[in-house]
Amino acid sequence: MELVCPRCGKRYKPTKGRYLCDCGSVLLVSYKNMKWAPRGEGVWRYKSCLPHKGKHFSLQEGGTPLVKGRDRDVYYKLEGDNPTGSFKDRGTAVVVSRAVSEGFKTVSTASTGNMGASIAAYAAYADIKARIFVPSSTPINKLSQIIAYGAELVKVKGTFHDAVARLWDDVSKGSYLAVTGANPYYIEGEKTIGYEIYEDIGVPDKIIVPMGTGGLITSIYKAFTELKRMRKIRKLPQMIGVQAGNCSPIVNAYSEGVDRAERMEKCNTIASAIMIKTPFNDLTALNAIRKSKGDALSVSDAEIRHAIRGLGEEGIFAEPASATALAAYEKIEKEKGDKVALIITGSGLKDPSAVI
Ligand code: F0G
Repeated sequence: MELVCPRCGKRYKPTKGRYLCDCGSVLLVSYKNMKWAPRGEGVWRYKSCLPHKGKHFSLQEGGTPLVKGRDRDVYYKLEGDNPTGSFKDRGTAVVVSRAVSEGFKTVSTASTGNMGASIAAYAAYADIKARIFVPSSTPINKLSQIIAYGAELVKVKGTFHDAVARLWDDVSKGSYLAVTGANPYYIEGEKTIGYEIYEDIGVPDKIIVPMGTGGLITSIYKAFTELKRMRKIRKLPQMIGVQAGNCSPIVNAYSEGVDRAERMEKCNTIASAIMIKTPFNDLTALNAIRKSKGDALSVSDAEIRHAIRGLGEEGIFAEPASATALAAYEKIEKEKGDKVALIITGSGLKDPSAVI
């Protein structure tokens, strides 16, 4: 196993505390010999395709339902069914296991809420400390989770970007960096969503993914490219990335044909989970969309509210960031018989006030 820079191609041994490339980019994990040998339950079912030295911590994340839509010809991947109510638990299981195996006693993250709640829970289970930096506007339900799991909660005035600045400072003092997307092992845990979809329905024609940092779409695409390399599949799904309101730096970069997302000064949306001005995984998210001949689009807050009700009518309660997937589905071009999977990333109970 090595860490590879998607921007400059430089390779690194996975040494303690190596998160980023010397060029400043995030890194991805690359395996020499991958073997497809799923066995057991949850994220560690795919142990043969994951970094796995030392003890594995698990709260039985993963193995979430893939529900066929009643009114629409779609499959909903219900990630709100994870232990802390969002898809983050998959990446966190791998990240916290890694932190413990590297001998860290504290993990730190900056988060719009879900990653913070997830890290807090898994750190509690692994009996290490967690420090969580969140923007002061983070929904109270996510803050309550972080407090209940016993983590140190640091509310930062400003946005996710300001919370990340505080996080770097904290990591420089010796805690483990567990932030979405900028930790390569996080992407590894998240990719198990792709493996599960493959095991359930094969390769969908399209997968619609909400994007904040761009880590989730990067990881699902990585899963399918690895399945192709292992000769399990021949074609890749079209990856469709969606952002919210006027906070759409990756969508803008896609439309402009560039591979770096420009920081957006003014961001605003009810989908607070994905209100991110400066995405870490812009290049790899854009690669996933372009190489799979997919698409990137943004949806308005009104469209998100409508989609929350649309999902509710089918018995699914999603938080605003997650409902963007359905809002995007309503807008994209579809061919008859297309198999479309929507990643419903988090439970509606995370931020219920958005419906009222
Ligand atoms: N959906 C939900 C519910 C999220 O919480 C996030 C990200 C995403 C989608 C987007 O995933 O960032 O990998 O592109 N939440 C992060 C957090 C930022 O801190 O909880 P992404």
